[in-house]
Amino acid sequence: MPNFSSRTSVRSVSLLLGMLAGGKKMDSAQLPLRHYVPAKPDGPFPYSAADLTPMDAGNDAGFYGPARFVTHIDDNAIVNLRGYYDQVLPRKGRIFDFCSSWISHYPPELEQAAASGELEIDGTGMNKAELSKNSVLKHWSVQDLNEDPEVRIPGSMEGGLDAATCVVSIDYLTKPVEVLQSIRKQTNKGGKVHLIISNRCFPTKAVGRWLKVDEDDRLDMVGDYLWWSGWRNIEIQTLVAGSFMRDPLWVVRAQNEPEQTEQDKAQTQ
Ligand SMILES: C[S@@+](CC[C@H](N)C(=O)[O-])C[C@H]1O[C@@H](n2cnc3c(N)ncnc32)[C@H](O)[C@@H]1O
Repeated sequence: MPNFSSRTSVRSVSLLLGMLAGGKKMDSAQLPLRHYVPAKPDGPFPYSAADLTPMDAGNDAGFYGPARFVTHIDDNAIVNLRGYYDQVLPRKGRIFDFCSSWISHYPPELEQAAASGELEIDGTGMNKAELSKNSVLKHWSVQDLNEDPEVRIPGSMEGGLDAATCVVSIDYLTKPVEVLQSIRKQTNKGGKVHLIISNRCFPTKAVGRWLKVDEDDRLDMVGDYLWWSGWRNIEIQTLVAGSFMRDPLWVVRAQNEPEQTEQDKAQTQ
């Protein structure tokens, strides 16, 4: 069973691997990629209430009340995530980091764009003390998305979102379709969402099905969340192939496709 406490004995090795990986610029085009295809695209959302209920349901405010100034993935995964973000995230416009904490793992190039005002990065999470230490966030707020999945993005909201990110947290959301739909509706046409996944978690807070299926099924489940919330061009990419020394890392990403105009529809018939 995945557990956040399981990797302390390999921290020094993982730090070394992270530093070595940091010397090379990541080329995400070379990483294994598959296109997600829904099993029944026109069918109902394929998960039950039990699938989306954690062992310890409710009182997330209590669970996330104590600040955790820790990293939830190893150093090698962090280096690779920064490299991935460097390649795919915009330098202008607006990014939203949901399920955020004291750290968002953005590369220096994005931090500079945010510092210069070209880019605005906003976030939500569960812990005020953690969020207030996250210096890349211009605006942040605390919102329990399991209580209220209508996402209230802090900040001006002028121009909508160009991208959204969520790191090792989608497994805690009990109303993922509502949350992802709400974010999509606040995202510009062509904007993307990047859901970052590893294999550790708080087991009592991950939704029921997450703990019962293997990693491929989890990635497809997140693809299903995106499909049923209206995102399209859904892709699953491996960012780090896991091993006994390294945390694995994947992204399930998708795009808010432009609405088809009558002219587009006529051309595709
Ligand atoms: C494992 S931490 C990851 C935090 C951060 N993304 C990172 O990489 O350090 C899980 C995060 O999920 C978010 N989360 C969990 N339950 C939530 C809920 N009910 N509503 C909103 N966010 C929640 C919290 O922000 C929490 O910090």
